Amino acid sequence: MADFEHVFDSPPPGAAADWTIPQGWENYTDVEHRTWVTLYERQMAILPGRASDQFMRGLDVLDLHGGGIPDFRKMNEALQALTGWTVVAVPGLVPDEVFFDHLANRRFPAGQFIRKREQLDYIQEPDVFHDVFGHVPMLTDPTFADYMQAYGQGGARALGLGQLQNLARLYWYTVEFGLMDTPEGLRIYGAGIVSSKTESIFSLEDPSPNRLGFDLERVMRTLYRIDDFQQVYFVIPSLDSLLAETTKDFGAIYARLKDAPDLPIETILPTDKVHTRGTQAYAHAGGRFARAS
Ligand code: PHE
Ligand code: FE
Repeated sequence: MADFEHVFDSPPPGAAADWTIPQGWENYTDVEHRTWVTLYERQMAILPGRASDQFMRGLDVLDLHGGGIPDFRKMNEALQALTGWTVVAVPGLVPDEVFFDHLANRRFPAGQFIRKREQLDYIQEPDVFHDVFGHVPMLTDPTFADYMQAYGQGGARALGLGQLQNLARLYWYTVEFGLMDTPEGLRIYGAGIVSSKTESIFSLEDPSPNRLGFDLERVMRTLYRIDDFQQVYFVIPSLDSLLAETTKDFGAIYARLKDAPDLPIETILPTDKVHTRGTQAYAHAGGRFARAS
C-alpha cells in the first residue's frame, strides 16, 4: 500500500546504497508465477468497466497479461520509451527519503517478493503484484507520470518542513485510493484499489463509503485507515486537474494546515462536493473483522 513506514534503518544485506536489489527474475518458482496469474485473472474478470481507461491501456501497452511475474528488464524497455520511468526492485518498504529520491528520478521502487497463496485477498506489505500490477500501468500515462515525479520532489521538501503527514494523505487518497469522474461514470485509478478484488467492487458499488470531490487542502487534512476498506474516497475530475492542483507551491497550504484540525474519516463538510453520501454500514458493523467471524 502506501510506502511510508519502513522496517529497516539501513539497506539490508545484499541491497545497494539506494536500497535496490536485483529482481532475480530467474529465481521465481512456478508456484510464484502461478500466484501472479491467479491474481491477474481475478482482477481482469472485474476491472473492465471499473478501472480507468489510462490504467487498462497501461496494462495493454506494457503487455502485463502474459504468463507470470513480469521481468523488470523487459517491462522497463517499454515503460522507458513511453514516459522515461523505470521500475527498480527493493526488498520491501524503504525509508521515506529513499522513496522520494527514487520517485523524483522517475524510478518506481517495487517489492521483489510475491505473496503466498494463503494471502491472495489481503497482505499488509506491498508485494510485486500490488506494486507492479497496481502502480505501473498508470506510469505509462504522461500526466500521471509527471504527477508521481512531482510528488517525489514535494516529498523531499515536506520532509524538511515537517509536513510529511499531510503530504502522505495526498498520496493515500490519490495514488493508492483515487477515483476519477468520467462521462461513463466513476472509475478507479488508485493502485491500492485495482490490486484488490474486493475493494475494486466495494469502492465503486458499496453504499457504505462516502465518495467526495477532490479538494487538495481538505484531502491533506483527512485521516485514513490502513487496516480495512476506506470509508471515504476522493474523486478527481481528471488527471490534468490533479496535476494542475498539485504543481502549485504548497508553502501557503502547509502554513495554514499547521493550525487546521485533522478531519475525522467520516466527516462531510458543507463545502464538499458529494458524489455519494455513504451509509458507513460496513465500517460500523466492524468491517473485515466482522465478516471474518
Ligand atoms: N507542489 C508541491 C510543493 O510545492 C509538490 C508536489 C507536487 C507535491 C505534486 C505533491 C504532488 O511542495
Ligand atoms: Fe502502493
